[in-house]
Amino acid sequence: MNNRKKTVYITRKEHFNAAHRLYNPNWTDEQNEAFFGKCANKHFHGHNFDIYVTVKGEADPETGMVIDLKKLKKLMHTYIIDKLDHQNINEDVDFMKGKMASIENLVVEIWNQLEPHIDRGQLHCIKLYETERQFVEYYGE
Ligand code: NI
Repeated sequence: MNNRKKTVYITRKEHFNAAHRLYNPNWTDEQNEAFFGKCANKHFHGHNFDIYVTVKGEADPETGMVIDLKKLKKLMHTYIIDKLDHQNINEDVDFMKGKMASIENLVVEIWNQLEPHIDRGQLHCIKLYETERQFVEYYGE
């Protein structure tokens, strides 16, 4: 019983503000407007994003930790928040260049930025809230 594996899921939440626009450059303005509505507005619009990063693993017997949350916070700031906060996702964010600035694409690219730097435990899930009512989850699949 005491020797069985005990997997714990630990989460850090962070926040950023960013602007975007949903717009397919292969479509006409009319097609974009018809499909995306206000989200296609050429002057962009902003969101207050919340991001939840969950790492899973067993607690280290020496530290009691799956991952040091101070370190996870620092990784999230370096690879996610510092690149996105107060930026225009369509124009300013290197890892979103040439991609539709949807939250579906954004959460996948955020995973790709962060995952190589998680050196203890295993990145399990990223949840990205665009509004209180709309969010995406990505599990690296
Ligand atoms: Ni939007």
